[in-house]
Amino acid sequence: MSETNITLNAESERLLQYENIEIAKGLVKELEASAGRKLTYYVKTFGCQMNARDSEKIVGILEEAGYVEAESEQADFVIYNTCTVRENANNKVYGRLGNLINMKKKNPFMRIALCGCMMQEPTVVEKIKTSYRQVNLIFGTHNIYKFAELLVHCLQNDKLLVDIWDDTDKIVEDLPIKRKYSFKSGVNIMFGCNNFCSYCIVPYVRGRERSREPKDIIRECEKLVADGVTEIMLLGQNVNSYGKNLEQPVTFAELLRSINEIKGLKRIRFMTSHPKDLSDDLIRAMAECENVCPHMHLPLQSGSDRLLELMNRHYTKQQYLDIVTKLRQAIPDIAITTDIIVGFPGETEEDFQETLDVVKQVEYDNAFTFIYSKRTGTPAARMDNQVPEDVIKDRFDRLLAIVQENAAKKANLLTGKVLPVLVEQINEQDDKLVSGRLANNSLVHFPGDASMIGNIYQVRLLECKGFYYLGEVE
Ligand code: SAH
Ligand code: SF4
Ligand code: F3S
Repeated sequence: MSETNITLNAESERLLQYENIEIAKGLVKELEASAGRKLTYYVKTFGCQMNARDSEKIVGILEEAGYVEAESEQADFVIYNTCTVRENANNKVYGRLGNLINMKKKNPFMRIALCGCMMQEPTVVEKIKTSYRQVNLIFGTHNIYKFAELLVHCLQNDKLLVDIWDDTDKIVEDLPIKRKYSFKSGVNIMFGCNNFCSYCIVPYVRGRERSREPKDIIRECEKLVADGVTEIMLLGQNVNSYGKNLEQPVTFAELLRSINEIKGLKRIRFMTSHPKDLSDDLIRAMAECENVCPHMHLPLQSGSDRLLELMNRHYTKQQYLDIVTKLRQAIPDIAITTDIIVGFPGETEEDFQETLDVVKQVEYDNAFTFIYSKRTGTPAARMDNQVPEDVIKDRFDRLLAIVQENAAKKANLLTGKVLPVLVEQINEQDDKLVSGRLANNSLVHFPGDASMIGNIYQVRLLECKGFYYLGEVE
C-alpha cells in the first residue's frame, strides 16, 4: 500500500468515528429518556502510562456521547482497560469481573466492556466467552480508535461483540480525548515494541513498532499547551528507537529538541529508554534542552551478562554502567530510576549478586522491583529451570532493602535546597497542604491551596521523610 493510501485510509476512519459519535449521542439521549436520568460511565485502568493515555481516549468518546462520570463501578457503562505484563494483573481482572456481572443483573442499562493488552491473548478471550457471557464488548490494543463504532453496537443491543486485531499499520489522529489532569498529559510518540525481551509479552499484545510523524506529535503538544498543559510525558515502549522507520527518519534526540522549542511548555519527560539504543546525542539533547527534566528511567532488568543475553536485552553490565557514567557527567543532578526482575529462569546467586552490584554502584533514586512472572508464549516460559519461590522471595527482600536504603540516602541530599516544584493536587491526607513534584520527579508536600495547581513554585525542602519532602514556598 502506498503512503497516500494509508493516510487517506486513516482520514476516512477518523471521519467514520465522528459519524459514530453522533449516532451514539442520539442513542444515549433515547436511553436517558427511558431511564429518566443521565447515563454514567466508569473506566478502570490497569498497567502502564500507555494504558492510562488510551483510557483518556475512551473517556473522551464516552463524554462526547453524553455519558457522565460515576464514582464507582455502579455505572451504566463500565470498561476495564487491562494489562497482562505479569500474571497477577490478569487475576485481578477476573476477580472484579464476577462482581460486575452481579451488578449488571440489577441494572438493565448496564454495559460491560473489556479492552487493552490482556484481550490480545486468545486464551483470555475464550475464557470470557465461556465463563463471563454477560460482557458486552471485547476489543484490543490495535483498534481502540474504533471505540465510537463499538460503543454504538453496545448501545443498540445487549449481545457480546468481540473485535480483536493481530496488528495494525494505521495511526488515526485527532479523535476526542479527555485528560485526567488539566496541567499534565502523556503524548504517544510511538506504539508497539520490536525488542522481544525473552520474558516479556508486550510485543505480542502491542504489535510492531510504529512511530508517529513529528509534525503530528508537535501539533498535539502545542494544542495541549494552548489548553493549559505545562508538563508532557512522551510515551513509547522504547523511545530511543523513535523515528527509525518513518519515511523520513528522525531521532528521539531531534524530536526532543523540537519539543523543547514549544513556548509555554515547562517540563518534558519521557518513558521508557532502552539502554541498547541510548545515544550520546540523546544525552547531549537532555543536557542542552532547558525544559527536559533531569530524570532517566533506565530499566536494568539484571546485572548479570549471562542473564542479559538470555533476556535478549543486547547490552552488558559494563555498557549499562558506562551509560550511567556519561549521563551523570553530562547532567550532574540527574535522577536515575530503573526496573529489575528477580528470579528469571536459571538465575543463580552469582547472577543475583551482579544485579546487587549494579544497584550498589548506580545508587538509584528509585527502582521498581518485580518478581519474574511466566508469560505463556514468550521464550522464557519455555525455559525449564524456573527458580523456586522461596529463593526468589529471599532475593527480592534483599534487593528491596538496598534499593530503599539508596533511595533514602539520595533523597536526603536535597534537604535544605530551594527547588522548583510543579503543584499537582491538594494533599490527600491534609487539605492545607499541596503536593507536587521536583523536576527529578520526587514528591514534595507544602502549605498551599487549589489555586496553585498546575503552577511552578520555588520551594525550600525543609525535611526529607524517606520517599517525600516537606517544604515551604520561598
Ligand atoms: N518497555 C519498557 C517496559 C515495559 S514493562 C522497557 O523495556 O523497559 C515494565 C516492566 O515490567 C519491565 O521493565 C520489566 O521489568 C517488567 N516485566 C516485564 N515482563 C515481566 C515479566 N514477565 N515478569 C516480571 N516482570 C516483567
Ligand atoms: Fe517488553 Fe523489552 Fe519491549 Fe520493554 S523493550 S516492552 S521489556 S519487550
Ligand atoms: Fe501492561 Fe500493556 Fe502496558 S501489558 S505494562 S498495559 S503495554
